[in-house]
Amino acid sequence: MKFREIFFNKIFTLRNLFFISNFLVLGLFFYALAHDFFREWKPYQKEYKLKEKKRVRDLMEKGDAATKSGLNDELKKAKAMRLEIKQILATDMNRVDRCITCHLGHDSFTNPTLINDYKEHPYAAPKNEIHEKHPFEKYGCTICHEGQGLATTFVGAGHMPKDEAQKKVWKEKHDWKTIEFWEHPMKAGPQIFATCSKCHEAHPPVKGVEIVKKGKQLFFENGCIGCHQVRGEGGTIAPDIAEETSVKPLARIDFGFAVSAGLINKEERTLENWIRLHFTANPAVLTPGDPEGHLSPDPKNPQPVAPTAMPYFGFNKDESEALVAYVSSLKREKIPYTYRIPALKEPEPTFSNAVKHGRFIFQKYGCTGCHGKNADQGIPIFNKQGGRAPDLVKTVGTFTREELIEKIQTGVNPEEKENPKGPTPPVYMPSFKDKIKGQEMEHLVSYLLSIAEKTEEW
Ligand code: HEC
Ligand code: HEC
Ligand code: HEC
Ligand code: HEC
Ligand code: HEC
Repeated sequence: MKFREIFFNKIFTLRNLFFISNFLVLGLFFYALAHDFFREWKPYQKEYKLKEKKRVRDLMEKGDAATKSGLNDELKKAKAMRLEIKQILATDMNRVDRCITCHLGHDSFTNPTLINDYKEHPYAAPKNEIHEKHPFEKYGCTICHEGQGLATTFVGAGHMPKDEAQKKVWKEKHDWKTIEFWEHPMKAGPQIFATCSKCHEAHPPVKGVEIVKKGKQLFFENGCIGCHQVRGEGGTIAPDIAEETSVKPLARIDFGFAVSAGLINKEERTLENWIRLHFTANPAVLTPGDPEGHLSPDPKNPQPVAPTAMPYFGFNKDESEALVAYVSSLKREKIPYTYRIPALKEPEPTFSNAVKHGRFIFQKYGCTGCHGKNADQGIPIFNKQGGRAPDLVKTVGTFTREELIEKIQTGVNPEEKENPKGPTPPVYMPSFKDKIKGQEMEHLVSYLLSIAEKTEEW
């Protein structure tokens, strides 16, 4: 009782409270000052200002009276440069980009000509054709580079190193790590060219964009479309890589198996790397399913799930990078139509005979994805009788023309299981009933019959 009285009457008094909180507020005030003083971007702006003043003075020293007076204005501008957060309001792009808070070389106000002699980042403003054709005040930066436009720190902006060496340097210099809670970190290296197709439906004819074209070609040749869709066109076995994969939220990606297999570490869990892993690693390691049904809710009635249907293609590094760029390039954003340059419809190639055309049709509908580039290598299929899709060179000879057409039109579904207790095989022969018709079907079958292994007749 006594203690309470003393406490409230002598110690915890309004007067004392007022006294203490005054100190707290003062403390906070100094903290805020210090915090503001040590902002990551400030040293860059201070240094830039010094550099600008020196650059103009050096020019003045060298020049005659006339150039001197011309440069006076520039010197005044450099001297008047304030330390502040700078931003580009690119309303058409739906963006506020503050990259120029550090990348002052790209700020057309501090650097009207957008040329200086500064070679080092973040001031170097490379006068490349692409920067010149897209005025920064309209486009901002992140429409092409991606990353977090509003951020004013190196990590927050989402810089991504282009290789291990750069990563090491950045960790030392900038305390680099991947940006958390931001779905689209910057594009490193040639991957930046995946973003041009947001506006240029056909990839513009500039150096660098070839990577996307190459990826598209690989996608075609390898018959990915046999399983995957691109904006609703293609197979039904796997996700639509344009509408689903290219914009997949991180929360919907399960990196668990990739991490435990040592394929990727925690800081590398980005959508771009998820896509990349499907080419550089065996997809069955990423999505192993649950073939024994151990994870079923009811152990008495196990529901086994097969590993992913996606085969391991064994692409090399260049091919993988090209495919990553192509898949990423399918991401779309709401951009006013005035910025969009529609593609011209690509004419279908012409062929000198039915068999050659048929081979093209075989690729066009993604038959290669399951039967191999030359129709002679069926992909492995989990728990299917025989374990693989058929080698068509060996089997089509046993069909008549009509039977082949029938087979392709109706498909085979469901597949026979090897182990009746095991999971349903994840791949089946799809039906192409309304997709391949008329001459395309005739020529496709001519191609198949032309490659059929000749059986000895006796
Ligand atoms: C806090 C300051 C800061 C901000 C904000 C910032 N950057 Fe940077 N940026 C740097 C620095 C410093 C480097 C140089 C890193 C190095 O090589 O040491 C750099 C490098 C880069 C590079 C070159 C990478 C390479 O491979 O050499 C690009 C591209 C880039 N930034 C784009 C951006 C974009 C786009 C934004 C806005 C989303 C942005 N930056 C925001 C400081 C910043
Ligand atoms: C229209 C697309 C586009 C826009 C908008 C754009 N950039 Fe770039 N930028 C590129 C491309 C493409 C490259 C790489 C050129 C190459 O590799 O030859 C590049 C290169 C750079 C580099 C040099 C990287 C290096 O390796 O040296 C920096 C820094 C940079 N951009 C910063 C910016 C900043 C800051 C903005 C905004 C003010 C911006 N960019 C706006 C497309 C763009
Ligand atoms: C936000 C939309 C948008 C993005 C993103 C974009 N561009 Fe452009 N680009 C345009 C528009 C609009 C033009 C102007 C076309 C014109 O002037 O007729 C253009 C012009 C160009 C030109 C000049 C073409 C010519 O005929 O003069 C080149 C080259 C170019 N872009 C390359 C690129 C590259 C490479 C990228 C990706 C790094 C890219 N663009 C990203 C909208 C965009
Ligand atoms: C035999 C069918 C099949 C073929 C052929 C195939 N895939 Fe897949 N792919 C799948 C399936 C099924 C998945 C989904 C993984 C899962 O959850 O089982 C997948 C997943 C992917 C993913 C990740 C998708 C996501 O949203 O997470 C990418 C990217 C991908 N495939 C690209 C390709 C490319 C590029 C090719 C051609 C070189 C290709 N695939 C060929 C069946 C296939
Ligand atoms: C998603 C994978 C997949 C795609 C895409 C696919 N097939 Fe098949 N195909 C199979 C499987 C699996 C079988 C074996 C079905 C069975 O168990 O009888 C098969 C069987 C066949 C057969 C019968 C051969 C035999 O030995 O029984 C023909 C012919 C055939 N496919 C042609 C095609 C053609 C032509 C295309 C493209 C228009 C195509 N397939 C696309 C998976 C595929």
